[in-house]
Amino acid sequence: MSRAKWEEACEYLPGGDSRNSIFWKPYPVFITDASGSRVMDADGVQRIDFINTMTTMILGHGPAPVINAVRRQLDKGLGYNAPNERQVDLARILCDRVPSFDLVRFTNSGTEATLNTLRAARAFTGKTRFAKVEGGYHGTHDGVTVSVRVDPSLAGDPDNPVPVPASAGLVPGVTDQVTVIPFNDSATALRILEDNACDLAAIIVEPVMGSVGMVPAQPEYLTMLRDFATANNTVLIFDEVISFRVAPGGSQEFYGVTPDMTALGKIIGGGLPVGAFGGRRDIMELYDPSPSGGPVVSHAGTFNANPLTMLAGSVAMEQLTSDVYRNLAALTEELKQGLREICSTLEVPVQVTGLGSLFGIHFCDHPVNNYRDIASGNHELRDRMFLGLLNEGILMASNLVGATSTATTEDDIEAFLKAFRTALERNV
Ligand SMILES: Cc1ncc(COP(=O)(O)O)c(C=O)c1O
Repeated sequence: MSRAKWEEACEYLPGGDSRNSIFWKPYPVFITDASGSRVMDADGVQRIDFINTMTTMILGHGPAPVINAVRRQLDKGLGYNAPNERQVDLARILCDRVPSFDLVRFTNSGTEATLNTLRAARAFTGKTRFAKVEGGYHGTHDGVTVSVRVDPSLAGDPDNPVPVPASAGLVPGVTDQVTVIPFNDSATALRILEDNACDLAAIIVEPVMGSVGMVPAQPEYLTMLRDFATANNTVLIFDEVISFRVAPGGSQEFYGVTPDMTALGKIIGGGLPVGAFGGRRDIMELYDPSPSGGPVVSHAGTFNANPLTMLAGSVAMEQLTSDVYRNLAALTEELKQGLREICSTLEVPVQVTGLGSLFGIHFCDHPVNNYRDIASGNHELRDRMFLGLLNEGILMASNLVGATSTATTEDDIEAFLKAFRTALERNV
């Protein structure tokens, strides 16, 4: 059934879908239903969801408080051509929680959020170039579509990575705007940053490298970036679209390092499309349209801060107490430990990375600290394990990154470990 649906989809959509990131060979399954920790596919096969819409559904699928609130809002209208109170509620919640947020603006995606952090940084500093981490994913706008899932053979020496376009069709010269630094190698990154200090409007970094592998930053790396940015009139941007899952105030609270600007997305919309960017008052005020000359930085969007998303986000955030984060981290730690034990018993080299409710499985015998470490793993085994787990009733991202939710149970963890052992025994 999924195959037939995919073949039909390919008649209308290139590759049968609108998100390249969720394609896998031979063809992806179509999901028809989701509830709690489970998703059902078009063939009637139920699986336990261990990716939760690329980490978004931190409360699982269909959490009652969010769904009930959304139902109530449906009767009051989906959007208006005037401000709504729902966005003020979510703005207040976020400004109370996120250490770097004096002011916040909403968007419809993490892509728009990171785009705005970089635009604001350029406007604020008067400089144009920015530094990004090799392998870091920050959405789909041109500026950040550089050195993402890069082929290491094209990316230069690890100590001197060169910017590599991650797509055809980017604006000419886009790579000239980017300085690439390695993750978790403070000495090398600092040398590269210092060589480019005069030009750098911003440094953008994920405190936990997300979609490419769930690799947490070493604390001293973030401190080094903070110190460099402060000393060089460079705006430090944390992309917490994924890593906001780590603590009530995001990874910046966990690490105790406060950036100048932060991009958010995913969990803050309660499952509806969302993004947000915020930070220091003196930077965010560039967006204020009320001064006589108008706003310094342009920002619009028909669906920005629509009341449905804002309400879903507020209700979701209210569910996410400190205890919830602690419990999610403990449950995920159990899973990570179980995976390591199975691999040790079967003598399969593995590194299980992650922080809080985020985790990544890497089949390699060297520690995983950055993108090059991920790229040199056993990808053939990874691909076979993804399909193996799928066949055993577990859904992850195809590069074996995952995230638990409050709907994940101890039984789900046990089922994952059983499925993992079965699939691994079959593949080694
Ligand atoms: C770290 C990070 N930044 C930005 C984005 C882009 O967010 P969106 O897909 O909502 O545009 C993503 C999406 O996965 C992400 O993981």
